[in-house]
Amino acid sequence: MDDAEVLLELRQVNKRFISTDHREDIVVLKDIDFRLRPGEIVAMLGRSGCGKSTLLRIICGLTPVSAGQVLYRDQPVTQPVAGISMVFQTFGLFPWLTVLENVELGLEAQGIPMVERRKRALAVIDLIGLDGFESAYPKELSGGMRQRVGFARALVVNPDVLLMDEAFSALDVPTSETLRGDLLDLWLERQIPTRAILMVSHSIEEVLMIADRIVILDSNPGRVKAELPITLKHPRDYTAPVFRRLVEHIYEIMTTAAGEPRAIGIGHRLPSAHVAQLLGVLDEINHPTHQGSADLSALADALNLKVDDLFPIIEALQLLDFAQVTDGDIRLTRHGEAFLAADIQRRKMIFGEHLLKRVPLAGHICRVIDERPGQRAPASRFLRELEDFLTEDEADRVLQVIVDWGRYAELFAYDYHTGVFSAENPGAEPAEA
Ligand SMILES: Nc1ncnc2c1ncn2[C@@H]1O[C@H](COP(=O)(O)OP(=O)(O)O)[C@@H](O)[C@H]1O
Ligand SMILES: [Mg+2]
Repeated sequence: MDDAEVLLELRQVNKRFISTDHREDIVVLKDIDFRLRPGEIVAMLGRSGCGKSTLLRIICGLTPVSAGQVLYRDQPVTQPVAGISMVFQTFGLFPWLTVLENVELGLEAQGIPMVERRKRALAVIDLIGLDGFESAYPKELSGGMRQRVGFARALVVNPDVLLMDEAFSALDVPTSETLRGDLLDLWLERQIPTRAILMVSHSIEEVLMIADRIVILDSNPGRVKAELPITLKHPRDYTAPVFRRLVEHIYEIMTTAAGEPRAIGIGHRLPSAHVAQLLGVLDEINHPTHQGSADLSALADALNLKVDDLFPIIEALQLLDFAQVTDGDIRLTRHGEAFLAADIQRRKMIFGEHLLKRVPLAGHICRVIDERPGQRAPASRFLRELEDFLTEDEADRVLQVIVDWGRYAELFAYDYHTGVFSAENPGAEPAEA
């Protein structure tokens, strides 16, 4: 395709953040190459934390790259650009301004006269389905309506390129489906002058409902893992077999990590999966209908889960070496089989052994507890360590995961009220990692 047709180009974009202790850089994005052309909706799909928001912030000029370049119509982007606007996940509205004022804001920055500002804001408010809410304040609106304001504010400047950062994920399912459908209609019917849309999301089904092309991002560091065009016609039916096959195919690409098994560190983002969910999925794989090897979407159906929700559970099972994913099928490893065959007490032991062997954070917590007087350690100590690798929220989330897993295995005890870890059996030797 002709280069002149490229709206947006990323060349070897890299992003590093300095860790809080300055000991090492965290590479968030690595060597991202990408082109966005007029007429397309492209979705970047990746797990939470893989760098999607960072990438969008770089593209719209809010965050600098560490290396590489972003070009918009062949011009380097180093600060916010008039032709690119973004819809955020959490609406980012000013609570003290009305809907109309929130929408007008973007135009004010461009120095557009008051009369025209008002005219354009009212037009876009009408277009996006906010008619009648012009003088409402954000707090008076439902989540769906607030996000409509978010869209109106992004669209009022007539952007060439519209970026959407998980723009539907904060909404409940029916609301997000309606809003997504409305946006798609505006786009397909050319009611908005936007020439290309780049969205990021962690939801396979969501991106498959809209995108013409999907770029799959890997995590740690975030880089392009695969790319595929989606030629399904609109409106798309997520129950159609061809749609389900695509979900499965993408799922498989996402779960098969390049170069696995990779050594993981203390700051590894453990997937959010409860022990109860792990047990549920293991049982289901072992169900006679699957005979130890289940098709991923069949498994999701059987468990009444969305495939997206199955994702962290499968990741955890792989991490613990209880299951493996090959060719879109998940099967038990011999450890998974041994685990299922064992009684409750023996299961806890096997689980604990795998935790200590495969999840460094588990062994670390055991050792620290053991070394400390009274065999107790406050959660804050581990949070501080995790924050060298993760944001505060992520550190908190990861610690909750290990608490759930470690308590099940009886590696340690944890008191939610005091936030203190302690030895499960005071005086007993902790197992060696
Ligand atoms: N300002 C920052 N300083 C340090 N680390 C950051 C910063 N912003 C994001 N990160 C880290 O970069 C990684 C990617 O974050 P993000 O782009 O928000 O991911 P996603 O949107 O895919 O969930 C995370 O590990 C996050 O902790
Ligand atoms: Mg994000």
